[in-house]
Amino acid sequence: MKYTVTVFFLVMMNVGFAQDAAMNKFISDLMQKMTLEEKIGQLNLPSIGFDVTGPVLSKDVESKIQKGLVGGVFNTFTPNAVRKLQDIAVKQTRLKIPLLFGYDVIHGHRTIFPIPLGLAASWDTALIRRIARAAADEATADGLNWTFSPMVDIARDPRWGRVSEGAGEDPFLGSQIAKAMVQGYQGNNLTADSTLMACIKHFALYGAVEAGREYNVVDMSTVKMYNDYLPPYKAGVDAGAGSIMSSFNEINGMPATADKWLMTDLLRKQWGFKGFVATDYTAVSELINHGIGDSMQVTQQSINAGIDMDMVSELFLLELPDLVKQGKVSVATIDNACRLILEAKYKLGLFEDPYRYISEERNKKEIMSADKLVLAKEAALKSIVLLKNIKLKNRQHVLPLSRDEKIAFIGPLVKDKRNLIGSWSAAGDWKNAVSIWEALLQKKMDETLYAKGCNLLDDKELIAKLNVHDAQIETDSLTPQQLIDNAVKVAAQADVVVAVLGESFAMSGEAASRSDIGLPENQEDLLKALKQTGKPIVLVLMNGRPLTLDWENDSVDAIVETWFAGTMAGPAIVDVLFGDYNPSGKITMSYPENVGQIPVYYNHKNTGRPFDDKNKYTSKYLDVSNEPLYPFGYGLSYSSFDYSDMTLNKNYLDKNSSITASVTIANNGNYDGEETAEMYIQDISASITRPLKELKGFQKIYLKKGESKKVQFLITEKDLRFYNADLHFVSEPGKFKIYIGGCSANCSENEFELR
Ligand code: NOJ
Repeated sequence: MKYTVTVFFLVMMNVGFAQDAAMNKFISDLMQKMTLEEKIGQLNLPSIGFDVTGPVLSKDVESKIQKGLVGGVFNTFTPNAVRKLQDIAVKQTRLKIPLLFGYDVIHGHRTIFPIPLGLAASWDTALIRRIARAAADEATADGLNWTFSPMVDIARDPRWGRVSEGAGEDPFLGSQIAKAMVQGYQGNNLTADSTLMACIKHFALYGAVEAGREYNVVDMSTVKMYNDYLPPYKAGVDAGAGSIMSSFNEINGMPATADKWLMTDLLRKQWGFKGFVATDYTAVSELINHGIGDSMQVTQQSINAGIDMDMVSELFLLELPDLVKQGKVSVATIDNACRLILEAKYKLGLFEDPYRYISEERNKKEIMSADKLVLAKEAALKSIVLLKNIKLKNRQHVLPLSRDEKIAFIGPLVKDKRNLIGSWSAAGDWKNAVSIWEALLQKKMDETLYAKGCNLLDDKELIAKLNVHDAQIETDSLTPQQLIDNAVKVAAQADVVVAVLGESFAMSGEAASRSDIGLPENQEDLLKALKQTGKPIVLVLMNGRPLTLDWENDSVDAIVETWFAGTMAGPAIVDVLFGDYNPSGKITMSYPENVGQIPVYYNHKNTGRPFDDKNKYTSKYLDVSNEPLYPFGYGLSYSSFDYSDMTLNKNYLDKNSSITASVTIANNGNYDGEETAEMYIQDISASITRPLKELKGFQKIYLKKGESKKVQFLITEKDLRFYNADLHFVSEPGKFKIYIGGCSANCSENEFELR
C-alpha cells in the first residue's frame, strides 16, 4: 500500500514537472517574440464598464488591446461582451495573446449569497467552499476567469465599512475560510471551464486602518502582524491562490504597493508565492498622494517592489519604457512580471482555448439556476444569528413566532429588496431578491399586519451621499411622526411586533466608514414608540457590520442579526422567525457596547493590571465595561446546548505526541439544531505576551432534541506555535490553558503542559 502511494506520488510529481516544463517552454518561446512594449502591455489591467443598455466597450481600451497593450480587463462580463474583447485580442493583435477577464465576484456572482461577514457566522467551511464553487460556476458561465476574492483582511474596528467583506476578527477562522474560498473558486484544475482564478486581497493589513477610517494608514508591530493579521493571507497563498492584490494602505510608513519587503521578501521569498501580484484600483498612481515621488518614481518603486500588474492607473504603460531606457528598471524585472501573467493565462487554459469561459449554453444553464437559489437559502439560514430571545411570562420564548398569533411586521426593510443583496454584489440584480414580505405571502400569511414606521434614513445629507452610489433611498410623503403614529396603531392590533431595521447596504462596504455605528436616529425613534405599546418586540436587523445595540439589547425582547442575506434573504428570515429553521450562526466580530470601546476583540492581552472591580488602578473604563455587548463566537439557538465533562486524555504533550480534549454536548431544549463547539488555547507564560484566548479549533454538530454527543479536539505541539520576538514560529514548553464552549466568553477550562 505504502509503495503504491509513493509511486503514485512520484508519478504525479513527474506529471507536474512535465507540465511545468511544457508551460515554461511555451512561455519562453512566446516571450522571445515579444517586444518590450508588448511585455509591458501584459502588465496593464484597465476597467471597462457598462451602460444601461448593456456592455459598452471603451474605444480607448479596444484600441489598446489591438496594439497589444492590455493584459486583462475587468468589469465586463456576459459571453457576448467578453467574446468581443477576446476576439480583438486573439484575432487582431500581432501575437494573439488572450486576455484575462476579472471581476469582483465577492459573495456570489448573479445569485447573491449573504455578505462575507454573515457567511463567516455560519462557521461552516464546507458550505463556504460550496458557495465559492457555485459562484465560480456562475461567473465562468458569464465569461469571467478571475475573481478579486477572497477578501481576507482581519478587522477589529467595526467603524470600517469593509468589515462586511471579510470573515471578522480571528486569524484562525479567517485562515480556514480563506482556504475554503480559494479551493472553492479554483477547484483542482484551473483549466476547467468552470474554475475561476482567485485573488487574495488586500495585501496587507488593510483591515487595521487607523480609527476605522477608510484608506487610512496602518502602523503595526511585526509581531502583531505575523501572529494576528498575516495568517489568512498566508493560508490563501498556501491553498494555491493564483494572484494577490496589493492594498491601498501604507504599513509603518511604506505604502503596500511600493513595499519590497512585503511583496518580495515576505510574499515570495518567505511564503513561496508563485502567482502574480495586481494592484488595487489606481494604487500605483495613488503612491504620488502617499508622498513617495512623482509618477516616474512611484512606477519604478512599485515594479521593483514586486508588483506585476497595474490596475487602472496605466503608469506602467506610460513610464516603464523610459525607466528601462534609463536603467532604473531592468528588462529582467519586466520579463519576470510578464512571465507570471502569461503563466496565469496558461494555467487557466486560455492559450489552448481563449474562448474556454465563453459559452451561451453554460450561461443559460448556470445563471441563477434552481440549485444555486437553494444554496443561497441554505447559506442565508446558516448565517443568521440569534442575539437575544427572552422568556415572557405568558409564553415560552418570544421566538419562534406562532402562526396562530397576530403579528405586525413594521419597518422600512420589511418590503425592501434593494438592500438585501448588500454591497459588492456587483453583478447581482436586487430585483431578483425575495423580500421578507414576499416570503410571508409565499407562506400564505396574508393576514400579517404591516406598517412602514419610518424611512430608512431621514438624514438628508447622508441620503444624498449614499444615493450618488445608487442607494436609492427615498423618503415617504408622510412626515416621520405620521409614519410612527400609523405604526403604533398597527402595533396595537398585534400580539407581537417584528421591527425590521438596519443600515442601507451602502452604509457598509468600501468607502463607508461610520463614526457612530448605532441604528439611524429616526429608526430608534420608531423603536422607542413601539416599545411604548407594551407589545413583545422582535428586532430583525439588516446591516453590514457589528452595530452598537446597547439600548436595543436592554429594551426589546428578541434580536435577530440577518446581515444582508442575499437573493434568498426573505424566505430564510421568515423560516427562522417561525421556527422552520433553528438559528445556528455565531458572530465572528465582537459587538461593542459603545464606540469608545473600539477596538474590542476577544483575543486581547492581559495587561499588567487586569481589570479587578475592587481595585481602582486596574485596566478599565469609568463609564463602560471592558467586555463587548456580544462577544466573538456568540449566538443563541431555539434549543439549549449544555457542555459537560470536559476531559483531557492526558495533561502533557511533547513534539511527538498529542492530547485529545473531549466534551459532551447535550441538546436540552425542545428543538433539533446545530451547534458550533469552539476550542481556545492560552499560552500562560511565554517569551512575549500572548492573548488570553486564541481559537484553535471548532466543530459543528447536529443534535436532535434530547440527544447528546461527545466532541473531541486533537491538540498537537503545532497548535501551540506563535511568532516570537525574532519572528521565529516556535512553541515554548510550559503550561497552557484550554477552553471549550459555545462562545469565547463562556467555556469550560482545563490545563496541560508542553514538555
Ligand atoms: C477597489 C477595491 O478596494 C477592491 O476590493 C476591488 O477588487 C477593486 N476596486 C476592483 O473593483
